Amino acid sequence: MVLVTGGAGYIGSHTCIALHEAGFDFVVFDNLSNASQESLFRVQKIIDRPISFVQGDIRDKEALRSVFTQYDIDAVIHFAGLKAVGESVQQPLEYYDNNINGTIVLCQVMQEFGCKNMVFSSSATVYGDPHTTPIKEDFPLSATNPYGRTKLFIEEILRDIFVSDTSWNIVLLRYFNPVGAHKSGLIGEDPNGIPNNLMPFIAQTAVKKRDYLSVFGDDYDTVDGTGVRDYIHVVDLAFGHVKALEKISNIKEVLTVNLGTGKGYSVLEMVRAFEKASGKDVPYQIAPRRSGDVAKCFADPSYAFETLGWSAQKGIQEMCEDSWRWQSQNPNGYAKD
Ligand code: NAD
Ligand code: UFG
Repeated sequence: MVLVTGGAGYIGSHTCIALHEAGFDFVVFDNLSNASQESLFRVQKIIDRPISFVQGDIRDKEALRSVFTQYDIDAVIHFAGLKAVGESVQQPLEYYDNNINGTIVLCQVMQEFGCKNMVFSSSATVYGDPHTTPIKEDFPLSATNPYGRTKLFIEEILRDIFVSDTSWNIVLLRYFNPVGAHKSGLIGEDPNGIPNNLMPFIAQTAVKKRDYLSVFGDDYDTVDGTGVRDYIHVVDLAFGHVKALEKISNIKEVLTVNLGTGKGYSVLEMVRAFEKASGKDVPYQIAPRRSGDVAKCFADPSYAFETLGWSAQKGIQEMCEDSWRWQSQNPNGYAKD
């Protein structure tokens, strides 16, 4: 049985489907602080079977203990965490408590129950402002905000746990920019309020929930001056977790892997691809650079293929088509209209 912390969220809900398709049984543990249980009802509809869900907080040791007592858990995929960069600057203590303390409590309970297999959601943000691209796993690490620091610190904590007890098997998956949605259009990214990230903002502009997209800077040293990122389809990303789980009992190390496509697209290239996929206009205005943004960030994904046999399969057009299907079918996300 796999414990999926944060499994009601954007990446977690897609991973539940990938786990089901690969024949893994799982239980979702989520405090619903940034998700709706509706996402899990939709997952049930897609996989056509009930799923086990426990509402709880990873900082609550007793709640975790009761999950480990009730279910025979042999591996954990750990998505649970807060993820908004700007909010982390405003509320650093909340981020350190939720993400770092939460992970420590989770690891303590795993240790108590002899469950030592963990797949952790890290982020390309741990590379800070990379000197060159594509980015390899051995590039220098840094952080420019509390959110990024939580990822960096958790990576270090997990490495320390492994040094202290080499019977742990740990995979750190460094995601690049997850976008897209399940083909059904039933589940997808449902940000609270005004989206911070590019793809949901574009999608909400296309559906006319927003008047226009602000393009943060057009004077970067990139193909057209706008920021370049490695957008990866969330279904590809979800499958990366299945590959990690399939290998986990033989890993015997802290395996650190980039999950990206290896291709970078600029903001304006994304706008054009989305317009093509949706048949809608996405009006935009050039705005000043956003503080903390880097010019270019894209992965060298070759190590993921070498170690996990994983590579991204879906291209930019499919990412945009699937985001559009989700957005147009659910203009208010999971909220009941
Ligand atoms: P999400 O917010 O949709 O999912 C996170 C889930 O964790 C939510 O359902 C939330 O309710 C739950 N959660 C938060 N704190 C919790 C706690 N203390 N106890 C129990 N549940 C808790 O985010 P996502 O985009 O699916 O991201 C999943 C993970 O991947 C996060 O750790 C995030 O930092 C990481 N990540 C995301 C991105 C991205 O751009 N989406 C990029 C890199 C890494
Ligand atoms: N952008 C805009 N307008 C917007 C939103 C974004 O022009 O309204 C631009 C950004 O300047 C950037 C690109 O679109 O060039 C992508 O921005 P996102 O906010 O979608 O993604 P980031 O790469 O900045 O950030 C993401 C995650 C962070 C994580 C970081 C590094 O949101 O949590 O990747 O992994 F830290």
